[in-house]
Amino acid sequence: MNILDGKALSQKIKEEVKLETQKLQAEKNITPGLAVILVGNDPASAAYVGMKSKACKDAGIYSIVHEMPETISQESILEILSMMNKNPNIDGILVQLPLPKHIDTTAILEAIDPKKDVDGFHAYNVGRMTSGLDAFVPATPYGVMELLKEYNIDPQGKDVCVVGASDIVGKPMGTLLLNANATVTTCHIYTKDLKAHTSKADIICVGAGVVNLIKEDMVKEGAIVVDIGINRLDNGKLVGDVDFENVAPKCSYITPVPGGVGPMTIAMLLKNTIKAAKMRESREK
Ligand code: GUN
Repeated sequence: MNILDGKALSQKIKEEVKLETQKLQAEKNITPGLAVILVGNDPASAAYVGMKSKACKDAGIYSIVHEMPETISQESILEILSMMNKNPNIDGILVQLPLPKHIDTTAILEAIDPKKDVDGFHAYNVGRMTSGLDAFVPATPYGVMELLKEYNIDPQGKDVCVVGASDIVGKPMGTLLLNANATVTTCHIYTKDLKAHTSKADIICVGAGVVNLIKEDMVKEGAIVVDIGINRLDNGKLVGDVDFENVAPKCSYITPVPGGVGPMTIAMLLKNTIKAAKMRESREK
């Protein structure tokens, strides 16, 4: 069994991003800028945003967090987005999800300039990615693809089971794997027999938010298991969706939680912000 070490790879990527930031600064006098919108008091969202801001700072990326109360109106969020869309020093815009129930999330995501959409959640980027065109790719599935690449795991021709079909993880994960010529099965809460699908898979990518969803008897010998879940137990411990202790011995490769996909997500967000900053001149024209 080998560990897919997302912590180590993310550190390498963050160093590369830092060098690119310095180069953009030296050659074009551009400081990449990221605007983050955080609505409400969800502690997990606040923690993620804090980690994103720190990572920006470490990499030499300017970042600003617009914190808004839970009761904020949709119009007020749209106003801030409009300002950020127009601000030439802001290259990337990110609205931390989930948003409060009275806010129409799709309308908010669609109001972001697609050329600043570093989360890749705007339909423009979703469509371009699905068509295999250059696009902003959502950071978590993008991070998984980079992690597989780092360990020379080529999804081409492999049977891959994606568990979870969310817009920000499962769906784009399946799309990227399909673009990489994998045979993809996506399972979700309505799937009749999850084990029937996972136990056939060469690669399992699970992001369902269910503790111990993937157990030993659901994984074939030698499989590659990528755990995209992040769950906090009552005792404060962070775990994924895989029963790591019992599943790991059967795997050829597996990601730990923490230290697997999580740190990759932040590294890929930084990479997307640099990509957006490099587009600054074409955007301004
Ligand atoms: N909430 C959970 N994951 C994400 C993410 O990748 N981006 C944003 N904006 N919100 C999230």
